[in-house]
Amino acid sequence: MKTINNTSLSINDEGKKVILHGWVQKKRNLGGLIFIDLRDRSGIIQLVATPDSSCYTMAESLKNEYVIKVEGVISKRQSANKNIKTGEIEVILDNVVILNTSKEIPFEISNDTTALEETRLKYRYLDLRRESLKNIMVLRHNITYAIREFLNNDDFLEIETPILCKSTPEGARDYLVPSRVNKGKFYALPQSPQLFKQLLMVGGMEKYFQIAKCFRDEDLRADRQPEFTQVDIEMSFVDEDDIMNLTERLVQYVFKKTINYDVKLPLLKMKYDDAIDLYGSDKPDLRFDMKIHDISKVFENTSFNLFKNILDNNGIINAIKVNNAADKYSRKGIDELTEYVKKYGAQGLAFLKISDEITGSIAKVLSEEEINNIKNILNTENNDLILIVADKTTVVKQSLGALRCKLAKDLNLIDKDDYKMLWVTDFPSFEYSEEENRFVSMHHPFTMPKDEDVDKLITDKANCYSKAYDIVINGYEAGGGSIRIHDQDIQRKMFEALELSDKQVEEKFGFFVEGLKYGTPPHGGLAFGLDRLVMLLAKTENIKDVIAFPKTQSASDLMSECPNVVDDKQLEELKIKIDKI
Ligand code: AMO
Repeated sequence: MKTINNTSLSINDEGKKVILHGWVQKKRNLGGLIFIDLRDRSGIIQLVATPDSSCYTMAESLKNEYVIKVEGVISKRQSANKNIKTGEIEVILDNVVILNTSKEIPFEISNDTTALEETRLKYRYLDLRRESLKNIMVLRHNITYAIREFLNNDDFLEIETPILCKSTPEGARDYLVPSRVNKGKFYALPQSPQLFKQLLMVGGMEKYFQIAKCFRDEDLRADRQPEFTQVDIEMSFVDEDDIMNLTERLVQYVFKKTINYDVKLPLLKMKYDDAIDLYGSDKPDLRFDMKIHDISKVFENTSFNLFKNILDNNGIINAIKVNNAADKYSRKGIDELTEYVKKYGAQGLAFLKISDEITGSIAKVLSEEEINNIKNILNTENNDLILIVADKTTVVKQSLGALRCKLAKDLNLIDKDDYKMLWVTDFPSFEYSEEENRFVSMHHPFTMPKDEDVDKLITDKANCYSKAYDIVINGYEAGGGSIRIHDQDIQRKMFEALELSDKQVEEKFGFFVEGLKYGTPPHGGLAFGLDRLVMLLAKTENIKDVIAFPKTQSASDLMSECPNVVDDKQLEELKIKIDKI
């Protein structure tokens, strides 16, 4: 068995005879001496074969990525390499054994590889040999370990729940698995263990957690995978503050243990409505300011028809101020920003550049008083750039919310070493679905409404808020949860509000509703996106970087070529016929 890791060796081991195992990262022949970088999981150590050694010929025959076992003596290097941990030493070789050879590799194993992502995904096992990716795998392990440690110390039980289960109402499309034994019937892969964890509370487990695989067939983005991992938590006899408190302490513990970062508690709490109002997002990035200001009032009596019409049609006019940036945006630069907000449905982007003489797309059509009012509301200084969207509320908030993030990135306003965390609370219970022409749950139908809003469930859905909360880190929704309904009267009202008939309730989650009738304790919980947490701690914006074997944008695994066709026999057993595609 291998007993020594390369980077455990140091100058203190000078003169020691060692046996090392690993891969040939690089070999070079300098003035008769053969230098080999030996890589193992811990890192690199330099090996040297001298012309008089019996292993010289063997050393000379080595190629990149060969797997070798070597024996040698630790010796001090003449000139140290400060870039690697073992830079002060090298191993003078006595013996080299080739444990395995390697085909020529399709890309170089180096952190700054230029290989295409597709190639790296096809040969993911080679990609994992790169130090940067390996380090993330180590970090992911450390994070998971710290989470288990913290929750175990807090009396939580780790309990597994089924992967083959009935569809849960999380809102995405299910991945389905056909049953051979029960022909024509399907399992769904869990979008989350939501119903099971609540039933574990009915089952008296009181404090549960699970590092749970979840599956959602939805449009993929840089922070979304079809198969991802949640740190799933549920507790009995708690209220919102208890769950938020526990979660904060968990986050503090994990950040300290894994990257030695001090999270200051308690975290800021912001109501959903305020987050949307000020930042145009339910996951505001607070690493930079650039709040959204409502300037509708300025135009109550405007003679500028475009704004007047929008206000007359219940629209709003909002602005953001980009400090000291007017000279950074030419007409072309503004055109690019305009194209950007159009993606969010905005019809245009008006702008003003503040200086002694105000310029910009609407400088000439606004009155002096209107311009002065805008300047006052936004507290402007010379060279500030004001960007304005006038439209329906949702379009205005979404487009300016996205624009402030883009501007912060473009203008380098974000301190990459910083973490800004907050709770977004008081989510609306419902959102209106234009598609279905009715109110649907914003989270799921088991989310407890605020005590004061229970009566609004039927009468005033648009103003009904819930005991739901998300933890937001640097503009990412890192986790979310809620207090659940344990009272059957409220649950009945909720189903009524969602226009679900008894029959539909029975079909969709009858077993669950039945369970809630047997002495359900008050309970609530939360789930972290583990992959997102690792992304944040590893400081990467690509979720694929934190998953050993990730899927592409089209939900495929390029390495194993999955999904793929199956044998006719398998289909026949399942009684499934494939239509022409
Ligand atoms: P929710 O749907 O908000 O809540 O998911 C919880 C967290 O999981 C992460 N997440 C994802 N990560 C990567 N890829 C995805 N496709 C993906 N979808 C979600 C996010 C998110 O905050 N059962 C509830 C939790 C609860 O109420 O306790 C749930 O699943 O970080």
